[in-house]
Amino acid sequence: MAIAEIIQLPKILDERGNLSFIEDKIHIPFKIIRSYWIYDVPGGEIRGGHAFKEQQEFIVALTGSFDVIIKDRTTEQRFHLNRSYYGLFIPNGLWRHLENFSTNALALVIASTNYHEADYIRDFEHYLDYLKNDK
Ligand code: TYD
Repeated sequence: MAIAEIIQLPKILDERGNLSFIEDKIHIPFKIIRSYWIYDVPGGEIRGGHAFKEQQEFIVALTGSFDVIIKDRTTEQRFHLNRSYYGLFIPNGLWRHLENFSTNALALVIASTNYHEADYIRDFEHYLDYLKNDK
């Protein structure tokens, strides 16, 4: 199975303020179909506990910081995102959730598909069954 990995984005340093950007198929390995963002997260809340059968995604902490926890059957990894010029690429088929949001954290999620509820696996036991049976 493919693994989640941090990707560093271009950073154009400028005295007037820095600039970063993402182009699909150049900086991230999929075509961008959808973007959404998570914000105003109350302290201690957890978002995004699920896996996607098809969707690939790239998550950036545009402001503030949070952790992305990635799991599969055997491993668990924690990625701390706290800079707007790098992000986490997550291939399809991995369980993930976001936690430890700082005040004013803004999580940008760039996705490879439209929103399809049928693509979600929202229960971790179902996810383990999916890995065993359906993949
Ligand atoms: P969801 O992905 O379930 O968020 P979380 O896993 O953090 O709880 O999305 C929450 C709600 O928002 C859910 O009812 C579906 C809706 N939603 C859309 O309509 N379009 C989207 O692109 C996304 C990401 C969510």
